Amino acid sequence: MTTDSPLPSPGTPVGVYDSGFGGLTVLRQLQRVLPELDYVYLGDNGRAPYGGRDVDTVLNFAEQCVERLFGEGCRTIVVACHTVSCVALRHLQQRYGSAERRVLGVTIPAAEAAVAATRGHVGFLGTARTVASHTFRTEVRKLSATVQVSEVAAPVLAPLVEEGWEDTDIARLAVARYAAQFGEIDTLVLGCTHYPLLERAFREVVPAGVAVLNPAPEVARRFAIWRAHHPALAPAGSGRLRVLSSGDIARFARHGARFLGEELPPVEHIAEQQGRLALCPDEAEPPGQIVRE
Ligand code: DGL
Repeated sequence: MTTDSPLPSPGTPVGVYDSGFGGLTVLRQLQRVLPELDYVYLGDNGRAPYGGRDVDTVLNFAEQCVERLFGEGCRTIVVACHTVSCVALRHLQQRYGSAERRVLGVTIPAAEAAVAATRGHVGFLGTARTVASHTFRTEVRKLSATVQVSEVAAPVLAPLVEEGWEDTDIARLAVARYAAQFGEIDTLVLGCTHYPLLERAFREVVPAGVAVLNPAPEVARRFAIWRAHHPALAPAGSGRLRVLSSGDIARFARHGARFLGEELPPVEHIAEQQGRLALCPDEAEPPGQIVRE
C-alpha cells in the first residue's frame, strides 16, 4: 500500500541522501553548523551497498531518491554518498537543478579539504564504483597540478559498518589490509560516508605523520557558506528531522543512532513501486515461500 506523506514537512527541509546509514555522519555535521534547519534524511539501505553496482543502476537509484526528497518539499538536496556524488552528481544537477532546486555533492569539498591538508601525496579510500570513476582525483587536479593522488577501493568496509561490526577484529584487520595498500602518503581521505565510524581503526594503523581526513566537517562548512548565499533554498525551520529508509526501519533506528550520535525520530519506510520510491507502511514479511498471483 502506498500513502501520501503522513507527516508532510511544513517548511522547506534540506534533503540528505545516502545509500544507507553513512550519510548520517554528514547530517550530524550539517546539524552541528546549521541546527535551525529542517532536514529529511533518505537512506536507501534496502538497496545498499551501491559501491559494487554498475553506473546505470546507481543513476536509476539516485533519480528515485532525489525525486522522493523533492516530493517531500526539499528544494536543496545534499548527496552525502561519495559513490553517487562521484558518478551521478552531474546527471542529477542537469536533470533536476534549477533556480528553484539544487543538488549538491561531497566530492569538491572533499578534494578541497585534501588539498588544504596534504604535503603532496593524498591517499583516497572509497567504494569500487567511486574509485573507478576517478572523480576525486579529477577534482584534486583542478585545484593543484602537483598534489599526487593514490586511490584504493575498499569494498568490504561499508558492508561491515552497515552490519554494525566497526568495533570488531574483523573490521580492524580489513582496515589494516586496505591501509597497507598505500605507498608514501601523508593524508588519507575517508572517501565513503561509512568510514568515519572506522576512523579510530585507521588512526591506529596508519604510520605516524599520516593525517586521517573525514571530509564531512568540510562538507558542512561549505554548505553553510553556500546556504548563506541561497537562504530561500534552505530557509531556517525548527530543527526538525524526518528519516526515510528503504531498509528495515527498526534496524535503521537502532544502528542509525551510532552514526548520528543521538536517537533518531520514528523512521518512515519507503519502497520502490513502479519505478518510484513511495512512502509505504513497513509490513512484516511473511515467512516461507511466496507464490505470486
Ligand atoms: N555511502 C556510500 C559512499 O559514501 C558507500 C556505501 C555503499 O557502497 O553503498 O560511497
